[in-house]
Order: sequence, then structure tokens, then C-alpha cells
Amino acid sequence: MSDAPHDKSHDKGQVHVYDDIVEEDNRLPNWWLYTLFGTIVFAVVYWLYYQAYAVDPGPVAAYQAERRAERKAEEARVLAAGEITEEGLVELSKTPAALAEGKKVYAEVCAACHRTDGGGQVGPNLTDSAWIHGGKPLEIARTIRDGVPAKGMLAWGPQLGELKVRAVTAYVLTLRDTNVAGGKPPQGPAVEPAK
Ligand code: HEC
Repeated sequence: MSDAPHDKSHDKGQVHVYDDIVEEDNRLPNWWLYTLFGTIVFAVVYWLYYQAYAVDPGPVAAYQAERRAERKAEEARVLAAGEITEEGLVELSKTPAALAEGKKVYAEVCAACHRTDGGGQVGPNLTDSAWIHGGKPLEIARTIRDGVPAKGMLAWGPQLGELKVRAVTAYVLTLRDTNVAGGKPPQGPAVEPAK
């Protein structure tokens, strides 16, 4: 830097000099300006689209709508499956598709407490003919759906939904009276073995 005083007359954009440090007012580069204008336009369009006119309801509402649709579809499937009956559950316990689903649910959530083969661990043996809460198909379905929360058996209805409760009940019906080796001693009154 020269010691000569800065000639201000040549620098139109110059606004401020202090201690020979020159602050100038240059035109901003176009790419910078267009980026700025772009963000402003984007913000306005975004606000109109998502807020002011809500053309798109947004991800939360879309998710809620999806959940509603799922619940309705599940209700329709339960309706189509008809009312739950003793005979219906026995029938289901002979239906391969239902049993396959029931077995899958059992392996995923029930086996931890009732053992993979149903012999019992934390929960009672499901393969003997003693049942604390009744061994009839509807009674078993009710125990699974409503649970026995005070005794550590959760209510599975809200988590699994009615159809999976029926499927896993069907699977439990196939375990009934199989008396697997090494099972937990019987708990609850013995009931007539199922035919
Ligand atoms: C956290 C452990 C746990 C899990 C997981 C669990 N159970 Fe249980 N279950 C229990 C306990 C404990 C009892 C005994 C409740 C009592 O003493 O009244 C029980 C009782 C039952 C009974 C009644 C048995 C009887 O003698 O009347 C059935 C049926 C049953 N469970 C099925 C299931 C099914 C099906 C699943 C999976 C969807 C499941 N359980 C998951 C702990 C569990």
C-alpha cells in the first residue's frame, strides 16, 4: 500500500475509509442475487402451497389419512370375517393360512413367555389341559385379546388387531393337549380335552 492519500474521486462505490482500510459498496454478483430472490420466491410459493391454500395437506395429515384408511380396511376385514364363534375358531385352527399367520405371531410375541413349543416359561403351559382362564376357543381368544395385565399377560387385542388375535388363538388351539416334554406343571383347573 502506498502512503499517498487515497483519491476518493475515482472510486464511486467507495463509502468509507478508516485507517486506510477501504470499505466499498460493490454491486452484488448476479448468482448471489438470483439465489436470494430464488429463496424469497420459494418461500412465498411454499407458504401458499402448504399453508394458505393447503393444496398439499403435508406429511402429518397424509400419514393420519393413511392410518385412517388402514383402520377402515381392518374393520372391513373383521366385518367380512364375521362374528367370532367357537366353531369359527375351531374351523380357523384347521385353515393353513390362518395357522401360518398365527404361528408367525406366536413366534414373534408369545414364545418369549410361553416357550417356542408352548411348554410355558414365564407364562403357563399352553400344551396341557389345565387352563387358568378357560380352555374353550372363545375363552382363549378373550384371554389373548384382553390379557391378564395384573399377572403379566398383556392385552394383545389393541396391538395385534382382531384378526391376528383370532389367528394366534387358532394356533394355540393346535398346541392344546399336546403335552410337550419338559413343559411347566399344570396351572388352573383341568378342562375336558378337546376333540
Ligand atoms: C410377558 C410375558 C407374556 C407374553 C409375551 C405372552 N404371555 Fe400369555 N401369559 C403370560 C402369563 C404370566 C400368563 C398367566 C396369567 C395368569 O396367571 O392369570 C399368561 C396366560 C396366557 C393364557 C391363558 C393360559 C391359561 O391357563 O388360561 C393364554 C392362552 C396366553 N397367555 C396366550 C398368549 C399368547 C397367544 C401370546 C402372544 C400373543 C402371549 N400369551 C404372550 C405371559 C405372557
